[in-house]
Amino acid sequence: TVRWNLHDNVQINNKEIREAAEFLRNGMTVAFPTETVYGLGADATSEDAVAKIFAAKGRPADNPLIAHVATKKQLTALVDNLPEKAETLMDVFSPGPITFVLPSNGTCADNVTAGLSTIGVRIPEHPVALQLLREADIPVAAPSANISGKPSPTTADHVWTDLNSKINGLLDGGPTGVGLESTVIDCTGEIPIILRPGGITLEQIEEVVGEVHVDKPQTNRTDKPKAPGMKYTHYAPEAPLWLVEGSVDKLQEIIDIERNNGRKVGVMASDETAEMLRADEKIQLGKQGNLAEVAINLYNALRTFKNGNIDLIICEAFPEENIGQAIMNRLKKAATKYVK
Ligand code: TXA
Ligand code: MG
Repeated sequence: TVRWNLHDNVQINNKEIREAAEFLRNGMTVAFPTETVYGLGADATSEDAVAKIFAAKGRPADNPLIAHVATKKQLTALVDNLPEKAETLMDVFSPGPITFVLPSNGTCADNVTAGLSTIGVRIPEHPVALQLLREADIPVAAPSANISGKPSPTTADHVWTDLNSKINGLLDGGPTGVGLESTVIDCTGEIPIILRPGGITLEQIEEVVGEVHVDKPQTNRTDKPKAPGMKYTHYAPEAPLWLVEGSVDKLQEIIDIERNNGRKVGVMASDETAEMLRADEKIQLGKQGNLAEVAINLYNALRTFKNGNIDLIICEAFPEENIGQAIMNRLKKAATKYVK
């Protein structure tokens, strides 16, 4: 795996980005930073190139990928039509952390859409991602650049840990911004449906287009979720995680019971809560009331607790509003138990 270090300056180092773009055009896989998480890219028009992504990640073949492009023009070249509400949302939020599910026109390879008639398309906001997409001048299929099932990567080192020697290149552009993935919104029907909460919030979307539906996470495993990826185990840390709603006293009580049972307990919580708790290890996610900071730190925290050091992770629940919806969506998937 070739690793290009961009440090801070995208312009000065664009030789590296040109090289990475050349890799993509030659059917190779390249991991790159976006404003949400690192993505693992390949030429979306090549079945062979896209197959390399599935192989490197160990990703189930029925989970479709997002096609990344630099411009609205490139985006509309991939879809059958652009419904009015999708276009309105795009004009407000793209480039940005939002993915539109639209009717596909078949330009991308079949394994990108996992055989669906729709395609997820997104224009990322990160300068490195945008410059890479412009240089490559092809649609780039890119899921998060992690081993399937693990937390998404928010640093190049996370990608390296998971995928070194399994991919052709890695563009290191420093830590990502939002820390959680893009919002996936299905715009094929009259009323848009949020399939995955993410960087652009329900509240922001409602303000622009009015009524929006939210796809309920499926509990019945025989149901077919609308975003196929949502049915798999995701974001899993190395130890079991209990998501706990309630007071500091309640959290401490649970921690004490488990420590008395001989388990080593790690805590993930807001700065204020973490400071008050006694446990074997503690990770502070950010100030209470600053959920954007919690989002940025979440995946790194999930990767920090190592099997062998910690037997159980206790994580504080957060309010399900604004970016808190995406935070809680990921935590519920990471959790083995939700204590209310
Ligand atoms: O922020 C992000 O979206 C990152 C960065 C790299 O852009 N990418 C990302 O990709 O999170 P991935 O593959 O980890 O998640 C894509 C999600 C999955 O849940 C997938 O099932 C859903 O989007 N998806 C993709 N295409 C779809 C489609 N045609 N219909 C419904 N869901 C789709
Ligand atoms: Mg992913």
